[in-house]
Amino acid sequence: MYTILGAWMSIQPILTAENKLLRQKSKKVTRFGDSLRQLVDDMYDTLHSANGLGLAAPQIGVLQRVFIVEIPAEYDEKGKEISPTERYTLINPEFIRMRGEAEMEEGCLSVPGFRGRVKRAVEVTIKAQDLHGKPIRYRADGLLAHVLQHEYDHLEGVLYLDRIESP
Ligand code: CO
Repeated sequence: MYTILGAWMSIQPILTAENKLLRQKSKKVTRFGDSLRQLVDDMYDTLHSANGLGLAAPQIGVLQRVFIVEIPAEYDEKGKEISPTERYTLINPEFIRMRGEAEMEEGCLSVPGFRGRVKRAVEVTIKAQDLHGKPIRYRADGLLAHVLQHEYDHLEGVLYLDRIESP
């Protein structure tokens, strides 16, 4: 199969909070082919151009259960890499375990210029599929656990603003 999107690599506009598409529930991905790969490539281009930690497909107007997370590499003061860039591409994700509670400050590319503190599970286990439809599973805590929950919310039409007690 081939799609017209196949030849493109592109930064997509990111929808902002007032857009009703961000309030809809995304659909399960059933086809693991070129157009899914293209969508994910576009999402990484868009995420990099916006300097974010994560992006969900509905944020670029595609109501499919796909999100990406990229935790940038860390360097010491001499410029030596302490931890490498971590990338997570999750298709049809589902939490299978959530534990504890922690509050952390969050922002969202769809809510520019605003940050707020949100309580979420402190440790999660998530299962999903990769680009080829193969099952994958991650356990995460700290920042990554928060980002996974934030991006998952986008697939359910939930914004982190909804989870702030006093915005
Ligand atoms: Co967001």
